[in-house]
Amino acid sequence: MTQTLADRIVGVLGTADATAKAKAARAAFADWRAGLIPDIGRAVPPDRPKRPMKPLLLMPRDMPKRGRAQTERGRIALLHAIAHIELNAVDLAADILVRFPNAKPPLPFFNDWLSVLDDEARHFLMLSDRLATLGAAYGDLPAHDGLWQAAQDTADNVLARLAVVPLVLEARGLDVTPAMIDSLKKAGDKDSVALLNVIYRDEIRHVAVGRKWFEHFCIGEPETTWRDLVAQHFRGALKPPFNDKARSEAGFGMGYYGEA
Ligand SMILES: [Fe+2]
Ligand SMILES: [Fe+2]
Repeated sequence: MTQTLADRIVGVLGTADATAKAKAARAAFADWRAGLIPDIGRAVPPDRPKRPMKPLLLMPRDMPKRGRAQTERGRIALLHAIAHIELNAVDLAADILVRFPNAKPPLPFFNDWLSVLDDEARHFLMLSDRLATLGAAYGDLPAHDGLWQAAQDTADNVLARLAVVPLVLEARGLDVTPAMIDSLKKAGDKDSVALLNVIYRDEIRHVAVGRKWFEHFCIGEPETTWRDLVAQHFRGALKPPFNDKARSEAGFGMGYYGEA
């Protein structure tokens, strides 16, 4: 029997090996675009996606300090940390595609989030290749446990999920990436700079997709609703300085996150 989109996506979440997970995600997107997946369907996602045995997952306070990007060890640690975030992003994009059938998302929702899923998988694979060139691999270093927390905290509310994942966490990525690019530039690591520039451009679009669907599902006034949902569902504070330029390119203006 032909698998539905939901079956394929739950298959991505249930794949433990990181490269296999990313490839399954890219294949689901390609097959969807080619019209090879007839139905959206329904399938129940796992509470936590499967992950490889390595990296060892540590609480943030137990994570070793990353060395400076000027040393090769520091660069590997930085790229490893980003690869880990991208692998989480693969699972987050997969999860939103199957978690909220009762919200009755329209077809363009699936097109958008599948394209985000494909981007995240591509980001992970590019970082994996870059690590290999530097003689390292995803799994070599410990990684941050807790990135799935936001998914668990918003598992029963699509609007809260959109408020927190694309519009807090991915928007935060836009704030911090330019400084990472600068430090890699200073280190003369042109290949890693090029890679982060690709990711940065793509992530602006992910925030834009998040904002679009947030406003689609939002019944009240979007900016105050966003602030209320973030206060209820996000553990932690929003951390300035914000990258106003990239955020406004994503249509996520200061009316949302700026000082009242
Ligand atoms: Fe990404
Ligand atoms: Fe993203």
